[in-house]
Amino acid sequence: MSIERIESVTYGVEDVDECARFFSDFGLTLQEQSPERAVLTTQVGQTVVLRPIDDPDLPPSVEPGSPGIREVVWGVDSQASLEALVADLSTDREVAIDADGVAHTLDETGYGVALAVTKPEDMNFDVRRYNSRGRVERWNESHTAIPQIRPIRICHVALNIPKEGRWEAVHFYLDRLNFRATDIVKPMGVFMQIEGDDDQHNFLLCHRPDRAGTNHTSYEVSGFDDVIEGGNHMIEKGWREARRLGRHTVGSNVFRFIHCPAGGRVEYAADMDRVDDTYGPNVHETTPPHHIWVLETNRDARVPNTSEGSALA
Ligand SMILES: [Fe+2]
Repeated sequence: MSIERIESVTYGVEDVDECARFFSDFGLTLQEQSPERAVLTTQVGQTVVLRPIDDPDLPPSVEPGSPGIREVVWGVDSQASLEALVADLSTDREVAIDADGVAHTLDETGYGVALAVTKPEDMNFDVRRYNSRGRVERWNESHTAIPQIRPIRICHVALNIPKEGRWEAVHFYLDRLNFRATDIVKPMGVFMQIEGDDDQHNFLLCHRPDRAGTNHTSYEVSGFDDVIEGGNHMIEKGWREARRLGRHTVGSNVFRFIHCPAGGRVEYAADMDRVDDTYGPNVHETTPPHHIWVLETNRDARVPNTSEGSALA
């Protein structure tokens, strides 16, 4: 009985078209678009769904009036697993099954939680190859710029929850959906891994003093260059960077964050720690440093992208 991946994330937004443009610029593939609904996909076929903030078919917002995540759909390995999970969830909450067989309910905070049988994953995604002494991945081939970064997959979702009731909120996922706590940062939140994945975290509940809300969604790209180039591309398109390029302490991934008009931020991520059942749960009494490093510079002038400019840089 295994949850394999994040299948889909649904946002309630103020302007579907603008948010579709944002996620297209971010590198997702637009599959459908109308003022009522836009759907974009990652390389492995997960979806980001954008719907109007006041769409009555969405779960109620945990942050009324603000755009943000309304539902996360988790991909389950089989119909039998889905039915077993639904049978358990139905013991203490309403679960609605839609025409596509997707089960919808709410978690302890009020976020929409849905379960769907996962779609087969397309493994034909972009891979960056890197060379170092003793580990050569790229022979007779130059590294080239990619005009449009394409996120491989949604690798994790981070939601803010109120501090009060945080353990009940976390235990819903641990006890009912069989997530595993990997790092418990007592003053900040709980990092969790789903059964069918090996990322250090697929889900993070961050507790905040008083309110729930969207923190971020994270998208794995194929290498460090993609994190940097993806962020550069977003800046060129007029979107706003939320944090300087760096590498996280917990999970270790290289990151770049962009403010998202659909709510919270989105993250390009590369080189996340992979962990198995022998890892954790690590209990941190104090919050570890946010990052191992962030990009520092004392040069603000843009370097011209010409051979002359390169020679001067
Ligand atoms: Fe993240």
